[in-house]
Amino acid sequence: MTPNPTSRTRCDRTLAWLDLEAAFASNPSESVRHQVNESLRAQSTSCAWRMDALRIDAPHIHADLSKAAWDEATFASLIALVDQCSVAQHRDAMFGGVAINSTENRQVMHWLPRQSVETLKRMILKSNPSLVSGSIEFDAIDLISNFSREVLTARETLLSFVDELRADSHLPDGIHDVVNIGIGGSDLGPCMVVQALAQVASGGPRVHFVSNVDPFALEQALATCKPANTLFVVQSKTFSTIETKLNAQAAIDWLRAAGLNDIGAHMVAVSMNPSGAKAMGIERVFAMWDWVGGRYSVWSGIGLPVAIALGRAGFEAFLSGAADMDLHFASAPPDRNLPILLGAQDVLYRNFHGFTSRSVAPYAQALSRLPAYLQQLEMESNGKRVDASGAELPFATSAVVWGESGTNGQHAYFQQLHQGTDVVPIEIIAVKQPMAKGEAAERQHRTLLANAVAQAQAFMSGRADAGGHRHFDGGRPSNFFLLDSLTPASLGALIALYEHRVFVAGSLWGINSFDQFGVELGKVLAVDIEKRMLDKHVDGLDASTAALLGRLS
Ligand code: F6P
Repeated sequence: MTPNPTSRTRCDRTLAWLDLEAAFASNPSESVRHQVNESLRAQSTSCAWRMDALRIDAPHIHADLSKAAWDEATFASLIALVDQCSVAQHRDAMFGGVAINSTENRQVMHWLPRQSVETLKRMILKSNPSLVSGSIEFDAIDLISNFSREVLTARETLLSFVDELRADSHLPDGIHDVVNIGIGGSDLGPCMVVQALAQVASGGPRVHFVSNVDPFALEQALATCKPANTLFVVQSKTFSTIETKLNAQAAIDWLRAAGLNDIGAHMVAVSMNPSGAKAMGIERVFAMWDWVGGRYSVWSGIGLPVAIALGRAGFEAFLSGAADMDLHFASAPPDRNLPILLGAQDVLYRNFHGFTSRSVAPYAQALSRLPAYLQQLEMESNGKRVDASGAELPFATSAVVWGESGTNGQHAYFQQLHQGTDVVPIEIIAVKQPMAKGEAAERQHRTLLANAVAQAQAFMSGRADAGGHRHFDGGRPSNFFLLDSLTPASLGALIALYEHRVFVAGSLWGINSFDQFGVELGKVLAVDIEKRMLDKHVDGLDASTAALLGRLS
């Protein structure tokens, strides 16, 4: 039976929601402090609950949620909420290939390109225990065989290209520099991953990223590249994105200015729209599918720069770490299921505690682009004002996600996080093993980790022994994620964790997390404004916009 993706039960239409409303009827800010400080005050039963129930070992990630703003009763209501909103059924619909992106009538299958045949079978069997091997229902068989045909072939084509490129990259006429041209999901994921794993990548060309239409971005990237040894990867799911097309054209001009007219030899593309790419002279176009959303696409051809940087084995490990998290999401019971708990926490924080933002602090310089990546993932997915059926929502959705790597943030905005008037939950991500080797690096890494742990402690405990300006309330919630080491597999798992968390929150809110109509208006207006800049006319414009255009002419 195919579930109707728009007929899900929205969170505010459940008994669990009423329970949460009743529990939070008192002053919510007091409730936050109470729920976090409880672990300090009651050292017996509820502390044992925090230590047992709120520390989760998910694949590649240990999550300590014991400093979060929930108590046992709230936690139980959230698990009931997840059940009453049928999140597990919605998840299974996604994994079963149902078109849950209802506004665009598309399947949501970004998790598919990161499977091997084996992990896919495991996941199908785990999430549907009734389907024992030999009696897999036709949907699952279809999924596996379509997967083998299309996805595996596309991955192999991509990786063979990568093998060749990397093998020749040390030759005088090989490719020494790869420049990725793309924006949004066609930049943020691959750029973040390549930067995060730079220290484990070796043996391939250098990889650069250009996203902004500001010509300085391309100019800067090309400053150290030689045209004859440069390959451009033009990434655009639609091949209609103006920033990407203009940057690609500028790259073509740069090649031609160096006497290189065979564009196909220096430029490849990844797109669902090969004719768009071919119209620019790009012969080689790697596949992309409409069932992979842009911000979820690093696992598909959009991951090409990642594969170039890491090589075949590294890229496969990246995919398999994410597949491990898929299996966890598909099979762990809700109260031990990390994406489910985090998505439910997002709803609790936004709708009951009234937190408007969440700060992300990776205590790893290599992960410094993670907050930017998460901004698109979370805010483009769940920053919605209507539910999947188009009805206006009576409650708030996605928090603003922002952040900076630790310890840098500590010396900038942490003052406000500790003593400001708003409570901002923070997510600390730490890596146990240092990336760099040597005694000095170990010493610095220890300081880094000590700061990560101390901050979580300070947010929770505060400082009651000092008064006035030196007083810290404490009771400020945090989550702590610990990776043993930053590897392709653990990073893959971390990204998949966030993807699924966004899914769960969106599912509870009853929204479609997979469209992005909110980006359209600005694009349309920019075309009109640019035309007016050329024609120098402001007829019909509001006074404010007309005045700005006047300044620009
Ligand atoms: O404008 C937003 C957006 O559509 C994102 O969702 C997407 O990741 C980005 O633009 C780039 O789109 P494309 O890959 O089609 O160039």
